[in-house]
Amino acid sequence: MDINNAKEILGPEFSLIFDVINPIVHDLKLSKDAKILDVGTGKGRMAIILALNNYKVITGEPDNDNTEYAKQNWLENAKKVYIDSLIEYKPFNAEKMSFNDEMFDAIFILGALHHINDKISAFKEFIRILKSKGIIGIFEPTPKAIKRIRKRSPTHPDAVDPREYTKNLPLSVEIRENFLYNIFIFKKI
Ligand SMILES: C[S@@+](CC[C@H](N)C(=O)[O-])C[C@H]1O[C@@H](n2cnc3c(N)ncnc32)[C@H](O)[C@@H]1O
Repeated sequence: MDINNAKEILGPEFSLIFDVINPIVHDLKLSKDAKILDVGTGKGRMAIILALNNYKVITGEPDNDNTEYAKQNWLENAKKVYIDSLIEYKPFNAEKMSFNDEMFDAIFILGALHHINDKISAFKEFIRILKSKGIIGIFEPTPKAIKRIRKRSPTHPDAVDPREYTKNLPLSVEIRENFLYNIFIFKKI
């Protein structure tokens, strides 16, 4: 589906996030058959953006997450823009996943890292399942964005700086910033 059509169908919140994330997805120039994991499905915005770019993506969140952030209407959203066949949902906990070693070319984590309890274990798992030269794209909300989120979810946790959890891991990092997200593009070296 044409991207502008998809933005209109999915509404202004999706559209705003799409405009921030999509240029990054383009810049990464992942191969069209890249194996991609989206950690923390939520409303499915990250998975939908990837699928609108014709990537296949596996997405998931813990089966036992009953917070307001999980089990959102991602499938309904994906169906609205006809890309649901590109998205495979598999429940998992990022702290210990059943995926094979060096299986993925890229892992994306949009607004989800700060929701994971044991981030050190999660990063160990990301390194394990990522191929050499693979990418971890992390989008953490800026303080301004957190303020906005707390208007509807007052107990929402603070964002985190992923570099706190990646010391001594074989990763290089590039940082970009905008009004919504601090963006960390890690590469496995
Ligand atoms: C705010 S939502 C993320 C929004 C989503 N990425 C999107 O694109 O719309 C936070 C997500 O983190 C997930 N999450 C929390 N702890 C997790 C864990 N240990 N492993 C995987 N996902 C987790 C929640 O279940 C929820 O899906």
